[in-house]
Parts: sequence; structure tokens; C-alpha cells
Amino acid sequence: MITPVISATGLWTPAQSVSNAELVESFNAWADKWNAEHAAEIEAGTLEPKTHSSVEFIEKASGIKSRFVVDKTGIVDPDMMRPNIPERPNDQISVLAEIAVNAAREALDRAGRDPKDVDAVLCAASNMQRGYPAMAVEIQDALGIDGFGFDMNVACSSATFGIQTGADFVRSGSARSVLMVNPEICSGHLNFTDRDSHFIFGDVATAVLIEAEDIAPAEHWKILGTHLKTQFSNNIRNNFGFLNRCAPDGIGAEDKLFVQEGRKVFKEVVPMVAKMIIAELERLELEAPNLRRMWLHQANANMNRLIASKVLGREATPDESPTVLDTYANTSSAGSIIAFHKHSDDMVAGDKGLICSFGAGYSAGTVFVEKAA
Ligand code: COA
Repeated sequence: MITPVISATGLWTPAQSVSNAELVESFNAWADKWNAEHAAEIEAGTLEPKTHSSVEFIEKASGIKSRFVVDKTGIVDPDMMRPNIPERPNDQISVLAEIAVNAAREALDRAGRDPKDVDAVLCAASNMQRGYPAMAVEIQDALGIDGFGFDMNVACSSATFGIQTGADFVRSGSARSVLMVNPEICSGHLNFTDRDSHFIFGDVATAVLIEAEDIAPAEHWKILGTHLKTQFSNNIRNNFGFLNRCAPDGIGAEDKLFVQEGRKVFKEVVPMVAKMIIAELERLELEAPNLRRMWLHQANANMNRLIASKVLGREATPDESPTVLDTYANTSSAGSIIAFHKHSDDMVAGDKGLICSFGAGYSAGTVFVEKAA
């Protein structure tokens, strides 16, 4: 059987970032304006006034301090409260494809891989820019890759599901080199007027090159085992879709953006993921203390602390479970890949680690890896 490995990763980070203080300032200005506009209803008791957001709450509840975004101007404008991303004509590369290409180029460069030698492109992300043609096919074209591409969406778990899919292609012989990309413009689906969640997300793109071991560069990552799980839940949901225009009340309602029951997500997903990691460790005959590092999905620092401590039986050190959400926020499927990309250069041959994702669906994925050479 052909053995799949991870040859390289790539990361593209937007140039603009928004701090908690900037985000809270625009939210509070928007809330004051909303309250003034609805003063009569608030006075009559038919509407609740909007309450201010706070920097302290955001950092304590989530661990997020800042986030990178494709466009800051619209987000910090209390009259807009959404990113300003102009539509492009069909003969220009789309924004989502462009950022994926940026991350992909880095992964290809790091692996010393010519795009002509890539067989397949998987675009695995929470939000695709359009129905069709598939983003993956546009990315394939922009990079000059022969072969095939398609999109897959498993929300925050898209990357681990994409890695397993790419690895299965390599194992079966249907591709020898698979480029898996995660362009996430999460600011586009975030309701910046929702106090409970306006701080959660950021934008980024990541890429992972999965290849047959015999063509991979000497410095690569063995894939020790992958495991995927889904379990239906409405606690994280986004109802945006092409059928919205058919509803008699039209589009634009708040549930067409990201909505969640954050507390329930926290309570239900932590045990599900910890159980899955522990079962996978057993199946692969690995011991938690032998894991050099865990690159966990980056949604909430407290959630990661709890998952890591359930797996290790003690608090993980920042070196064992690195955090990137303080500067990137939640970047959906890309989070664990950013952590892996930024915090793996110091690992040596034989070091083992875990890439782990979890999120809407619910969905969860584990990819155990070992540094080769
Ligand atoms: N600023 C100030 N206070 C805020 C606030 C804000 N922006 N948002 C909420 N609060 C208040 C609430 O009103 C509430 O006040 P109350 O106790 O007086 O009612 C209090 O803070 C606690 O709110 P709660 O929503 O229960 O916070 P939390 O501690 O559960 O943290 C999350 C919220 C979203 C950070 C947390 O639940 C979480 O991370 N959940 C998992 C999210 C996740 O992983 N989602 C996956 C997405 S892909």
C-alpha cells in the first residue's frame, strides 16, 4: 500500500487586524446609536436596550485579544458593522480563491513541489464564496495544476476531514500529491451586532500538501492515524443558502449569519473530543505522555485547556498545547493548521503530535503525526 505523509504546510495572514478595544468601541457606538433610534420602544418596554460589550469579558471568556481580517474599515464602522469586500467581475480571481492560492504557494515552495506535479485540490472550508464552479477548480486553475478539484465543507473540522480524504486518495492510488486548502473569511458570516459572538472570528488561509511518501521531501510528517466523527447538533448553525430567496420573508435575517448556543457547545463538545482523542491514542497504541504537542482547534482558550487536561491528566504547558487564537481568533477549519504551521519547526525526528479539530455539525477530527528525518 502507498503511504501518505504531510509534505508541507502554508499560511496566509491578512495585513489588517482588529484589536478587542477597536471592536468593542465600534460595537458600543453601534449599540448607543441603536438605542437612540429605538428610544420610544425602549421607553415603552417593547424593546430591550442593547448592552455594551467589554474587552475584559472577551479576553476572559475566549482568550482572544485580536483578529486578522480581510477588511477592517467596514467592521469598525458603526454604520456598517460588516467587512467591506467589493464583488469582483467573473474574469478576476475570487477573493476566497486568491487567499487559498497565497497559502498554497507557500506549502508548495516549502515542499519544493512544482504545481504541475500535484494531482488534486481539495478546498475544505466553512463557507464557500459561491455555489459553483467549485472554489477548488478555480484554485487549481490559478496554480496551473492538472487533474481535479472539489470543495468540501465540514465547518471547523474541514481541514482534518480534508487531510483524511487526501490521505485516502494517496493510499488508494487515485492521486499521489493532494493540495488541501482552507480559505476562511469568517468575518463574512459573523454578526458584528451580536454582543455574544461579535468577537469570535478572524480571517486566514492555510494549506496542507499530502503526498505519497516516496515523492515527499525528506523533512515530512508521517500520518500515524486519522479518525473522523460527526453528530448532528443545531447548537452552531448558519442558515445562509441558495433557498433563502425562496422564503416568503426574503433574506437578511440574523440566522443567515453564524449563530450558536456557546455554553451548550462548550459543555457538549469538550467531553466528545477528549473521549475521541483518548480512544484514538489507545487504538494507535500511543501514550498521552509521549505526545510532544497538541495542535488543537482554536475556538476558545478555556475549552482547549479543559480538553488538553482531560487527555494529559494535568494542565498542558503552552509548549504542549500552543495557542494562536489570541492573535488570530477563531479561524474555523484553519485554526489547528495555523498552530501546526507556526509551532512545529522545533520538533525533531520521532516527535509525535496531534492535529485536532472540532466544531459545527457537530464534527471532530484527529490526525496523529510523527516527524520524519
Ligand atoms: N461583553 C460583555 N459581556 C458579555 C458579552 C460581551 N461581548 N457577551 C456576553 N456577555 C455576558 C452575558 O450577557 C452574560 O451575562 P449574565 O451572566 O449577566 O447573563 C455573561 O457575559 C456570560 O455569558 P455567556 O454567553 O454565558 O458566556 P460564556 O462564559 O459561555 O462565554 C463563549 C461565551 C461563546 C466565549 C463560550 O461559551 C464559548 O467559547 N463557547 C464555545 C464556542 C465555540 O467553540 N464555538 C464553536 C464555534 S465554531
